[in-house]
Amino acid sequence: MEKLLNMIKEEQTQNGYVSEEAMNHISQDLELPLGHVYGVTTFYSFLSTAPLGRHVIRICKSIPCLLQNGESVAASLQKELGIAPGETTADGRFTFLLANCIGACDQAPAMLVDDVVYGNLTPERIKTILQSHD
Ligand code: FES
Repeated sequence: MEKLLNMIKEEQTQNGYVSEEAMNHISQDLELPLGHVYGVTTFYSFLSTAPLGRHVIRICKSIPCLLQNGESVAASLQKELGIAPGETTADGRFTFLLANCIGACDQAPAMLVDDVVYGNLTPERIKTILQSHD
């Protein structure tokens, strides 16, 4: 299992996602069923089976954030980006994902843009944060 995860993570790091072709190679190399490789790859939210945008936004959808107006913040993010969760903007600038708790509940509602946490979000702050990412 450790070797499988390492190979998947390496693919994600090198190419930004784990393609079907890569999963096939890993499956053959480790003599594991393709379905198993796919299952592990799709289990972890920080792995992707599709190319991602230059910036990956993961907005928290867990209860503590939702109780702090997280739903309207997520709606405003979706409106600003013009895409639905799971999608990437046409210019390849942003991928918009929903995530479980990102460990910033004390700053709820919160999101990650790449590896940076943004907390105490408001619809107004969303615009500023997006503008600061090329
Ligand atoms: S519940 Fe949203 S960061 Fe923890």
